[in-house]
Amino acid sequence: MSSTAAPTLFTWEFATDPYPAYAWLREHAPVHRATLPSGVDAWLVTRYEDARQALADPRLSKNPVHHAEPAHARGKTGIPGERNADLMTHLLNIDPPDHTRLRRLVSKAFTPRRVALFAPRVQELTDQLIDGFAGKGEADLIHDFAFPLPIYAICDLLGVPREDQDDFRDWAGMMIRHGGGPRGGVARSVKKMRGYLAELIHRKRENPGEDLISGLIRASDHGEHLTENEAAAMAFILLFAGFETTINLIGNGMYALLRNPDQKALLQQALERGDSRLLETAVEELLRYDGPVELATWRYATRPLRIGGQDIGQGEPVLVVLAAADRDPDRFADPDRLDLGRRDNQHLGYGHGIHYCLGAPLARLEAQTALATLLTRLLDIRLAQDPADSRWRGGLIMRGLRTLPVCFTPP
Ligand code: HEM
Repeated sequence: MSSTAAPTLFTWEFATDPYPAYAWLREHAPVHRATLPSGVDAWLVTRYEDARQALADPRLSKNPVHHAEPAHARGKTGIPGERNADLMTHLLNIDPPDHTRLRRLVSKAFTPRRVALFAPRVQELTDQLIDGFAGKGEADLIHDFAFPLPIYAICDLLGVPREDQDDFRDWAGMMIRHGGGPRGGVARSVKKMRGYLAELIHRKRENPGEDLISGLIRASDHGEHLTENEAAAMAFILLFAGFETTINLIGNGMYALLRNPDQKALLQQALERGDSRLLETAVEELLRYDGPVELATWRYATRPLRIGGQDIGQGEPVLVVLAAADRDPDRFADPDRLDLGRRDNQHLGYGHGIHYCLGAPLARLEAQTALATLLTRLLDIRLAQDPADSRWRGGLIMRGLRTLPVCFTPP
């Protein structure tokens, strides 16, 4: 790419490898006004320092009512459920004080302790899924592994009974396969999920258990108030935010490892020695290197402001490009290199500020369990197709592979 010509964004080539275009933007147009595939104009913020500041800037609202053209943007953000007003009052669409209240409530139920107690179940799910294909010597790691693992994990955590979890798998599959595509199927799936969640919340009120939904209801009964709609929206955002992201963390992460066999070998040696420190830094580095969330979710200027020397008008949308910020050479040494042992890795893959990912402990648990188990059970796992044939799922916010064919010697 020439150093002077602006890159064309949102093409097929861009989806395959957006990093050269992001390097150009960071250098030549770090706060860049782009027309998105939906036709909406937005500012893309690509430098690390600007990105970090923007993520924590209270003048940038998460509430779409602040968009200068709300009617135009509605239904075009790539987030399923956006046409269902009652599912939209979730954490990623609200500001303080409502955000503070809801985040405090859910934090009481979604504790690191609850996640830690969940570790044996994540390991069991991981092993079951690998058992399903280990004998074949080949698999599509997205379809056979990365896709089912998080949906069953989140369903368990929320308290969706096992016999209903395949329905969730189907609805969620429809939402991500067609995200931004045919609206009918997505809308139907969102509606079914919404109906199911309302009923589940009702049942948990009558008959609480040890799950997260019961925990939410309990927390709200102790002083702070959570409406029925807010509870459904909360369950929905936990599913939505924790599902495709985790698929992509496992998918993009394994893909990066398989393309960097020296790094993969280092990790396998560490795991064999029973040393889990490299596993921990590895998952953080994979998030930085090719994270699941390419752009943070939408923000809107509530008043005129400046970011990175660029004037932003009131009502204009701002998209923080996490994938670009996390490759900024002003913040990360040799940013295009995958270095599993990287230190001082303050990446923005989970966001920053008050909307920092609530599910980060669960995501870390799932990714560490998945990678460690795949790499110790399938020692010679490798890509089964030329990386040039890899296909990435379109969509604005998430970055992930459609399929990840691998082969290995059956254990
Ligand atoms: C927020 C990334 C997994 C639940 C966020 C944000 C990012 C992110 C970047 C901030 C978005 C913004 O500021 O616009 C990730 C990544 C994951 C992951 C890379 C990797 C697997 C999960 C999981 C859950 C979850 C497993 C829950 C089960 C949430 C919630 C928010 C959030 C509820 C909104 C928090 C708020 O607005 O206060 N996540 N996430 N995430 N994430 Fe995650």
